[in-house]
Amino acid sequence: MDKKSQNEPFYDIMLPMSKKVLLSGIQSSGKAHIGNYFGAMKQWVDLSNDYDCYIFIADYHALHSLQNPKEMKENITNLLLDYLAVGLDPEKVTLFKQSDISEHTELCWIFDTITTMPYLMRAHAFKDAEAKNKDIVVGTFNYPLLQAADILLYSPDAVPVGADQKQHIEISRDTAEKFNRIYGDTFKIPEPLIMDKVAVVPGTDGRKMSKSYGNTILLFAEYEEIKKAVMSIVTDASGGIPKNVYAIHNLLRPASELLPIYESKTGKYKELKELLIEDLEKFIAPLRERRKEFAKDIPKALAILKAGGEKAKKVASAKMNEVREKIGVNVYYD
Ligand code: TYM
Repeated sequence: MDKKSQNEPFYDIMLPMSKKVLLSGIQSSGKAHIGNYFGAMKQWVDLSNDYDCYIFIADYHALHSLQNPKEMKENITNLLLDYLAVGLDPEKVTLFKQSDISEHTELCWIFDTITTMPYLMRAHAFKDAEAKNKDIVVGTFNYPLLQAADILLYSPDAVPVGADQKQHIEISRDTAEKFNRIYGDTFKIPEPLIMDKVAVVPGTDGRKMSKSYGNTILLFAEYEEIKKAVMSIVTDASGGIPKNVYAIHNLLRPASELLPIYESKTGKYKELKELLIEDLEKFIAPLRERRKEFAKDIPKALAILKAGGEKAKKVASAKMNEVREKIGVNVYYD
C-alpha cells in the first residue's frame, strides 16, 4: 500500500451521499403574493425532500426600499410565518435571515473590490431606477453583489427563482468566475432554476405581479381581498377570452380543464371572474388557516429562525474563512 492510499480516508464511502444544495430567498419588503409562490416558493417546497435547502429572509436587501423599523420587524415575522405555512418544514429546510449572518455583507464588500461600476450599471434594477430619475442609493446599485454573496456562501446546486431574478443569478455567476480567476478556485458556479410555465406570473393589470406595482393577489388574502383583487383584473373589450383572468386561473387549473370553460363562456367576464374567485379561495383558504396556526406561537417560529441562523452561520463562516485565506488577510499562525 503506498503512502497516499494509506492516508486516504476509507470511511467516506460508508457515509450517505450528501444531498445537493438549494438556496433561495425573498426580500422582507412587503406581503408575499401568488407570484412569489408560483414563481419560487412552490419549487422550494416541491424540492425540499431532494435537496439540502437553505431558505432565507433577505432583510438587508429590503433596507434599500424600507426604512421603517416597525414595519421591518413585522415583515420579517410575517415572511417567516409565510414560509412555514406554505410547507417549508424546519426539519428539512434551514430557515434563516440574512442579517443574522454577517458573512453576507462581508463577502459583498470583497465582491465590491473586484467588480467594475460599468458592469453593475448594466443591471436592470439600476437602469429602471435611473430611468425614473430616482435618487439612487448605493445599496440599490450594489444590490446584485449582496445577492451574489447570499448565494455563493452556500455553494448551491440550484437557485429556484422567477424570471425577474435571472440577471441577478448571471451576475452571481460572473462574480464567482471573476473571483476564481483572480484568487483560484473557490466558488461553485450557481445555476438558476426557473420554471417556464410560472416564470412570470402576471398581476391584475397584466404586467408582472409585483409588490411595487400594486397589482398583486396576496398569498394569504382573506376572501374579501381575493374578491376585490380579482374584480380589479383588467379585461379588454373584445368579448373573447379575458387574457389576464385566464393567465392567473391557469396557475390553478390545467388548460385542458380551463379552456372548454372559457370557450363556453366567451365574453362573460363576470362569471369567469367569479369562478376564479372560488378557485383562488379553495387554494388559499388552507394556507391561510395553517398560517393562523403558526401565528399563535410567534416565539416558537422565531426560535426556528434563530436555530436556522446558527446552522447557516457555520456553513457561511467556513466559506468565508476560505475566502479570507485566498485573499491573503489570514496572517495569524493559530
Ligand atoms: P423578491 O423578493 O422580489 O421575490 C421573491 C421570489 O419571487 C419571485 N417572483 C416572481 N416569480 C414569478 N412571477 C412573478 N410575478 C414574481 N414576483 C416575484 C422572484 O423571482 C423571486 O424568486 N433579489 C431577490 C431576493 C434575493 C434572493 C437572493 C433570491 C436576495 N438574495 C439569493 C435568490 C437567491 C428578490 O428581490 O426577490
